[in-house]
Amino acid sequence: MDRTQNQTTSVGPSTVLAYLDPNYWSHPFYYRDERFSREEHYEWFKDYSHFRHLIQQHIKPYYSLLELGCGNSQLCEELYKDGITQQTCIDISAVAVEKMQKKLLSKGYKDIKVLEADMLDLPFTNESFDVVVEKGTMDVLFVDSGDPWNPRPATVDKVMAMLQGVHRVLKPDGIFISITFGQPHFRRPLFEAPEFTWSVEWSTFGDTFHYFFYILRKGRRSLDSRKHTERIAIAPISLLQDELENEDYIFRTNIDEINM
Ligand SMILES: C[S@@+](CC[C@H](N)C(=O)[O-])C[C@H]1O[C@@H](n2cnc3c(N)ncnc32)[C@H](O)[C@@H]1O
Repeated sequence: MDRTQNQTTSVGPSTVLAYLDPNYWSHPFYYRDERFSREEHYEWFKDYSHFRHLIQQHIKPYYSLLELGCGNSQLCEELYKDGITQQTCIDISAVAVEKMQKKLLSKGYKDIKVLEADMLDLPFTNESFDVVVEKGTMDVLFVDSGDPWNPRPATVDKVMAMLQGVHRVLKPDGIFISITFGQPHFRRPLFEAPEFTWSVEWSTFGDTFHYFFYILRKGRRSLDSRKHTERIAIAPISLLQDELENEDYIFRTNIDEINM
């Protein structure tokens, strides 16, 4: 289990649809901030140790890095310990941002900037970062997306706004790292929209249940991949209850939809 929560009671909402409510993530008096105010650390999916070998293949210490939706994850601290000192973290929750700022200052990570910002409207100039990373944050946009083969237009609009912003703030040859349970046949049609110049590759990590580690490199798209928009046939994942029982039900819900 990848969590070190201090509280003894549940901090999740009563319904998964709350994750779609902007208030869940951002309202100072609402559920999400209440969760952040009570919870010191929750690592969505796996912690850094599980994908460190993958990230290290792509990141150099002098890179500037933007993390989307940092929550109260320790990813930025772990990256800092590995030499990535030029980091900016954003989150839509003011409470999460304030707590992260205090925590990082108290631990001496004063170079890491933490800002309240919306990943659908990134407040950075073009070509600002060598790396943009997200872990479990893009997945929030897929809650209540409907048929995973054919997500609702509102979902697609949000995902595209996010991806367009990420593409815009990446430097030439910069990389977007997306860590998710979202399988390639659902993610590739979005990542490989015609407007994007990045190449799309992925690895998996995890024991029984595999998570996906996508690497999108700006300006490296092959002509061949532009034609490749059809669905890819991949055997459905088989889920083990042991693997999922400790994950938040936002992810169980999506996985159940996939298996229907
Ligand atoms: C599923 S949690 C993942 C947290 C963290 N990345 C981790 O791996 O533990 C999603 C995070 O994204 C943040 N978030 C949701 N929507 C956002 C948005 N539009 N812009 C920025 N952050 C957002 C939430 O406040 C929350 O901290």
